[in-house]
Amino acid sequence: MRVIRSLPAMQAWSVRERRAGRRIAFVPTMGALHAGHLSLVRRARSIADRVVVSIFVNPLQFGPKEDFRRYPRVPLKDMTLLRPLGVDVVFLPAARAIYPDGFQTHVEVEQVSRGLCGASRPGHFRGVATVVAKLFNLVQPDAAIFGRKDFQQVKVIERMVRDLGFPVRIVEAATVRDRDGVALSSRNAYLTPDERVRARAIPQALREARAVSRRKGASPARVRALVRRRLAEAGLKVEYVETRSARTLEPVHRRERGVALLVAAGAGGTRLIDNTVLD
Ligand code: PAF
Repeated sequence: MRVIRSLPAMQAWSVRERRAGRRIAFVPTMGALHAGHLSLVRRARSIADRVVVSIFVNPLQFGPKEDFRRYPRVPLKDMTLLRPLGVDVVFLPAARAIYPDGFQTHVEVEQVSRGLCGASRPGHFRGVATVVAKLFNLVQPDAAIFGRKDFQQVKVIERMVRDLGFPVRIVEAATVRDRDGVALSSRNAYLTPDERVRARAIPQALREARAVSRRKGASPARVRALVRRRLAEAGLKVEYVETRSARTLEPVHRRERGVALLVAAGAGGTRLIDNTVLD
């Protein structure tokens, strides 16, 4: 497993591999890797000849009051986890290389970034789209793997790839959950034991919502109200509970197929997101 820090070295490696006819799968991450990331890496390994994982805590996608400074950074531990998975390159660029002095070019995916997480995190998806576009240019992957837990993020990237013509296939991978059902996230490390217990209400409410909409044919509004109630009962601070088209992220008010139920809620100071598809 090779560690590449410089941007020209990363690009040169990818150009060489592609010229040799090898297909590259890419997993962009911010590090603090957990089993969810590792499942993305395994997926990458199964669909390509070469696997690149980037680790870069992207300052552009954090708001001024968010956790950029305290976001966990454990690159040595991350590399220990990646080595047995057959990763070819870990790309570890420095912030000043990604954003050199005078940097002023951004990618804004307008509609898909609005609402949901975009409402409480202004500029977040602009930061994500900008760094992913830059990473795609550096790594030049054939495919890139993203976790479905970050549902809106996947839609933003898919739209960006279509709109800007990146020759990259976006692969969406299922959310990985802990034994108690809580979706894996690097931010779970912030939870106190009590908050962790409260967090279980999220996957439980999503499960109940699926059952209620399947068995009783409940309307999206009733399902949303049920989930809000369950999260509030568990002492979570509900930020949003929304039903959207799983394909386009347009709001959905009637029962139909392919409805995504998306939630964001606070447990203490930690913001948790999760989602499910109702049918
Ligand atoms: O999902 C993440 O970890 C980040 O948003 C990503 C895609 C690596 C961009 O910084």
